[in-house]
Amino acid sequence: MPSHIREHSRIYQIASIPGDGIGVDITEAAVQVLNTLSATLRTFQFDFKTFDWSSDKYLERGWYMEPDGLEQLKKHDAIYFGAVGSPEVPDHISLWGLILPIRKALNQYVNVRPTRILPGTKSPLENVKNEDLDWVIVRENSEGEYSGQGGTSHEHSDHAVATEVSIFTQVGIERIMHFAFETAKSRPRKKLTMVTKSNAQRHGMVLWDKVFYEVAKQYPEVEIDKMLVDAMTVRMVLHPKSMDTIVATNLHADILSDLAAALSGSIGIAPSSNLDPTRKNPSMFEPIHGSAPDIAGKGIANPVGAFWSAAEMVRWLGEEAAADALMKAIENVTAAGVKTKDLGGDKNTKEVTEAVCAEIQKLQ
Ligand code: NAI
Ligand code: MG
Repeated sequence: MPSHIREHSRIYQIASIPGDGIGVDITEAAVQVLNTLSATLRTFQFDFKTFDWSSDKYLERGWYMEPDGLEQLKKHDAIYFGAVGSPEVPDHISLWGLILPIRKALNQYVNVRPTRILPGTKSPLENVKNEDLDWVIVRENSEGEYSGQGGTSHEHSDHAVATEVSIFTQVGIERIMHFAFETAKSRPRKKLTMVTKSNAQRHGMVLWDKVFYEVAKQYPEVEIDKMLVDAMTVRMVLHPKSMDTIVATNLHADILSDLAAALSGSIGIAPSSNLDPTRKNPSMFEPIHGSAPDIAGKGIANPVGAFWSAAEMVRWLGEEAAADALMKAIENVTAAGVKTKDLGGDKNTKEVTEAVCAEIQKLQ
């Protein structure tokens, strides 16, 4: 088939939610990189629709998302998200106003957080070589400690009582375990480490352990082990090479993935995919960091986590070769020492973005 016929044959509808703080800078950078990728490869295009849902708008309008916001998002092939959170709005309001309802309502029950030390960067751990740290953290993303069950009574007295109830369901645990085992199976080392705290938390976490061992029977090729979360932090720091794929609850994996990002060089490089593996709803892609009010508006945020998340989005859309090409462009840029301050470099967001775009254009 002549190449011009295939040109721009596929158009992906992407909902873009920049949000707050550095979320705005890095989303703009990611959109620029994605548009450069599609313009260079000429086999697909992105049609971005930007949603101005943010904390500033919340303060103005009193809402984060329109009442039919989730329905609007469902019309897209994927969602690209920056970050939400502002010093002007309590964090539980902003998180529950935007990102958590999207993850839950769109059945994005898996959060995948890969961690690697990119070329040209290094771990803060002295004796760790780049190839020693290569993990995928699979986080349960729909229930557990972030179920939102609980309440406060006697709030305005000295006898205030608050409950925060973790919900663990057999169905919820089974589906995340299957995803984690499939992930482990697809990787060269085929190792899965399951993390809980089932010594102290004797109901929900014990169910996690039980389901893990049951599901494991269906994956004899995957080597398994089990860790308590406190000991896991020690193992991640002292023996990073001993792990490959990791599965943990919503809260534990949230914490462990920030640690993982720091151990791989910076929270600024770490990507995440909020997936609905049934593909009935759009999945959402975002760097794991927040809105970083301390550096917001300075133009110095590291956009690498945003680009890596964009690459994961491209992969989820089925454009495997394009995703690999984007990752290669990102890695060529870090390898060349074009890095922001958090990675020990002296470049700003714009300079790193332009360097990645220039690398992509070399693909032509
Ligand atoms: P944070 O991730 O925003 O920042 C933690 C530290 O890492 C800060 O010193 C920041 O400057 C640095 N950092 C983060 N991303 C960076 C990047 N790309 N380049 C260079 N440095 C970077 O976490 P923090 O401070 O706990 O939260 C700030 C706000 O973000 C809060 O309102 C929080 O609720 C919200 N948040 C939102 C998330 C989301 O939208 N998914 C996730 C985490 C936090
Ligand atoms: Mg987090």
